[in-house]
Amino acid sequence: MHAPPEQGFRRAMSAFATGVTVVSAARADGRMSGITVNSLTSVSLQPRLMLWCLGDQSERYDHFATADAWGVTVLGGDEAALAIRYARAERETIAAHEAETFANVPVLRAGVAHFACRTHDRQRAGDHLIIIGEVTDFRVKPGDALTFFRGQYGRAVDTRST
Ligand SMILES: Cc1cc2nc3c(=O)[nH]c(=O)nc-3n(C[C@H](O)[C@H](O)[C@H](O)COP(=O)(O)O)c2cc1C
Repeated sequence: MHAPPEQGFRRAMSAFATGVTVVSAARADGRMSGITVNSLTSVSLQPRLMLWCLGDQSERYDHFATADAWGVTVLGGDEAALAIRYARAERETIAAHEAETFANVPVLRAGVAHFACRTHDRQRAGDHLIIIGEVTDFRVKPGDALTFFRGQYGRAVDTRST
């Protein structure tokens, strides 16, 4: 039996170590939704643009595909539980005490960096939607970062602040 080719591609891409983020956006009813994302990439400095890719099979596709403004929380080294939680649609709602408004978008109180974005462009690419955001504000603080490598969570140590 041969594994489907997607599985091999996934395994190969999992050797590319990334950080882990939660992208968040307000819903019309006032609730806030989060989704775990590691496809975040910076695109341009002038203007400041970043992108992430949203899978079209996600139950949260419509919400994030149409959001005009959204936040990004870069998770810290101890925050794997948040990554696990926001990978599931049934636990997507961010409790008010876990969220704050940053430059008019919801972000998690957790995290080592936050970005506020407004959607600049969207591009369908295969089974994902590339969402490009213009960064309207950002902030960063010291601390270890959560990583994702070969399907496992890990930690990148912040040697600058120790
Ligand atoms: C570490 C990690 C990174 C992920 N990165 C992405 C991503 O970049 N884009 C994406 O659409 N889903 C990503 N996911 C999957 C989503 O978080 C979520 O599990 C998926 O969209 C299914 O959600 P649903 O319950 O809304 O269908 C990632 C999951 C994990 C655990």
